[in-house]
Amino acid sequence: MASFTSTPKLISIFGALIVCLSPYITPSFADSFDKKVDLIWGHDNSKMDDTGTQLSLSLDTMSGSAFQSKDAYLFGRIDMQIKLVQGNSAGTVSTYYIASPGGPLHDEVDFEFLGNISGQPYILHTNLFAHGQGDREQQFYLWFDPTADFHTYTFLWNPRHIAFLVDDIPIRDFKNHEDKGLFFPNSQPMNVYCSIWDGDGWATRGGLVKTDWTQSPFTVHYQNFNPQACVSQKASLVCNLPEGSDYTWFGQMLAETDLEKMKWVRENYMIYDYCTDVKRFPNGVPPECLLG
Ligand SMILES: *[C@@H]1O[C@H](CO)[C@@H](O)[C@H](O)[C@H]1NC(C)=O
Repeated sequence: MASFTSTPKLISIFGALIVCLSPYITPSFADSFDKKVDLIWGHDNSKMDDTGTQLSLSLDTMSGSAFQSKDAYLFGRIDMQIKLVQGNSAGTVSTYYIASPGGPLHDEVDFEFLGNISGQPYILHTNLFAHGQGDREQQFYLWFDPTADFHTYTFLWNPRHIAFLVDDIPIRDFKNHEDKGLFFPNSQPMNVYCSIWDGDGWATRGGLVKTDWTQSPFTVHYQNFNPQACVSQKASLVCNLPEGSDYTWFGQMLAETDLEKMKWVRENYMIYDYCTDVKRFPNGVPPECLLG
C-alpha cells in the first residue's frame, strides 16, 4: 500500500473498528496487477503485460484461468476495466465478482458475462448472495459492444447498499434491509475474483449454443483494477481514501440523476429479473423485491 502522512481517523460502525487513513497517495496504475492479485488457476493461460497494467485470462481446451485479489475488502468502491472475448465467444463465461470464503453462509456479488456467437449480444448476468442465500439473478444486454473496448464495471458497496455500475451508470441497487430482518453482506470481508471458464451447458441461449473450440483460445482482458476500499487486516479495517475524500462512497446512496439512468437501463436493457418471476416463486417473490 501507499505511504501515509496524516494521523489515522477512527470511526466505528456496527461495532467494527475502521481505521481511515488519508490522504491516500494514489498508486500508479503500473502496480495495478502484480502487487494486488495472485493467479489462482490456469497460470499458463494468464498473461500480464510488462508494466503490470493489463492482465489477460484465456480459456482453451486444457483449462480456463483466474486471479484473486491479495486483499480482502469490507466495503469499497471497486472498479475493474474489462474488454470481453471478441468474435465467437458462445459458451464462454467471463467473470468479475467479490466473494467471502466459501461455505453455506458465504456472501458474494457477481458480474458474469455470457458470451455469444459473433454479432449477437452478450448477456450481463448479475447475482447476489447474502448469508448463503442467492437466487437473485438479474440479466441485462449492454448498450455498447463490450468486446470493442474496455469498459468500467464497479461494485459500490457500503453499509447502506450495494450498487452495480457499468461506466458509472447504475444497473442494479441492492439495499440493506437488516432492520426488516433480511441479511445484507456487511460482516464478511470479500476478495475480488476474475475468471474465464467454459459454461456451454448454460451460458448461450440457455445452453443451446456450444463452445466452438476451433476458435480457442478465448481471451478476456482486464486493466486498471482500482479498489478504493477498506482492507480487512486482523481484527480491524484499514480504509484508504483518496485525497480530499469525504468518505463519499462510504455513505453514498444513488443520487436522483443516477436513479434516472438506472431506470433507463432497466426499462431498455434488462432481460430477466427474479423479482418479477412469479412462476419461479409461486409462493411470492423474495421479500426485498417488495421493499425496493
Ligand atoms: C445470444 O443471441 C441470441 C440471439 O440474438 C439471444 O437470444 C441471446 O440472449 C444472446 N445472448 C446469450 C448469452 O445467449
